Formats: sequence, C-alpha cells, structure tokens
Amino acid sequence: MSETAPVITIDGPGGVGKGTISRLIACRLGWHLLDSGALYRVTALAALKQGVDFSDIAAVTQVASTLDVVFEPGNSEVRVMLAGADVSAEIRTEACGELASRVATISAVRQALLARQRAFRVAPGLVADGRDMGTVVFPDAELKIYLTASAEERAKRRHKQLIDKGVSVNLTRLLEDIVERDERDMSREVAPLKPAEDAVLVDTTTLSIDEVVTQVSDLWNKVS
Ligand code: DC
Repeated sequence: MSETAPVITIDGPGGVGKGTISRLIACRLGWHLLDSGALYRVTALAALKQGVDFSDIAAVTQVASTLDVVFEPGNSEVRVMLAGADVSAEIRTEACGELASRVATISAVRQALLARQRAFRVAPGLVADGRDMGTVVFPDAELKIYLTASAEERAKRRHKQLIDKGVSVNLTRLLEDIVERDERDMSREVAPLKPAEDAVLVDTTTLSIDEVVTQVSDLWNKVS
C-alpha cells in the first residue's frame, strides 16, 4: 500500500449509478467522497451565473480556477455550496449536466480542477467518482472500478431518479441526451471517458445497487 491514503476510483458513463454506489462504498468504509462531476457542474453553473461566453476558453478556465465551492457533508447527501449559496439541486438539472459536459472538453479547465480533486485524498481513504479518476486524476489508485450499463437501462435509472425528486422528464429525450453525452465524453481529446487499463469492469445492467456494492466491497477486501 502507498504512503498516501488509499483510493478507490469509480468511473463510468452518465446514469450508471456511480454516485449512489460511490456514496454507499464511502459510507461503508468510513472514507471521504469525491463527486468530480459536481465540480464540472459547478464550473458550468458559475460560468452561466457570471454571464460567461462558453466558447471563451480563457474565461471559462478563469471560472474553474477561481471557483468558490465547498462540499458540506450532510446526513444523507453532500450539500454543494457555490459562493455560500446551496446549489445542490441546481447543478443536478439536465441543462447543467449538458453544460458541464461542454466545459469538461476544455483541457485548461480539467487542469485547473486537478489539484482540487487530488486534495480530497486524505486518510482514512477516498472513493473518487467520475470519468477519468482511474486514468488521469488517481492513476496509482489501489482499486479501479469501471461501471457500465446499457444506455436504455441508464436512461431508465436517471428517469426514476428525477421523477423521485419531483422533476418531470421525458424518457425518450433522456435516452437521446445520454447517448449524445456519452459520445461527447468518450470522443473528447482530453481525458476521454474510458476504462483504465487496470480497471475492473462491472456491468450493472441486471444488477441491483446492493449487488454492485457487494462486488466492489469484495474486490476491495481482496486488494487491501
Ligand atoms: O457525473 P456527472 O453527470 O455529474 O458529470 C457531468 C459532466 O462532467 C459529464 O458529462 C462529464 C464531466 N465529467 C468529466 O469530464 N470528468 C469527470 N471526472 C466527471 C465529470
């Protein structure tokens, strides 16, 4: 085991359940949690609020490097505070996810957020949820998981999640958005979404949340 705190990276496409699985694993181990997608979402929201032109790379990068964001652990969910205001719900909208996916294609933005993400690696350990956790941010992670599920299943899961939150959405539209965002996340030049060479692939299409958590916990028990 390395001298720094251990990390389990959980990467995969949108709607695969990374957030839920990561939270449950972090809770089970008593570890810290990094929701890296939230950082891209907050960057997009902050840029929107500041009226920044999304095609102005320098301006969006400036927003990312000066981001006043704090993650406040709550009872069940982490509260995301931007300049002192709770933006937890606002960053979860599909519109914000779409903008996040766009700002995430900018290399300088990714670079600006790198140190902030690595700072989450503190004892007793970190569960890092994202797209490039195992490939770029924590290449020396002790365990790398790559979750997959069919696009249809992921659209259904996201649909249920949003309906449960009282947000009305159209399933077909969600599926189209998921496929489009996968395409952008996988084909971008910097840190594209892909499994690290040493990642363990877990296809969750037919698995329950508990089954996935058990599989990941078993894998961790084997390497730790
Ligand atoms: O996981 P999420 O849906 O909250 O992520 C929102 C967007 O942020 C996603 O479309 C791609 C981007 N992202 C990224 O590029 N790298 C990460 N580590 C996490 C998210």
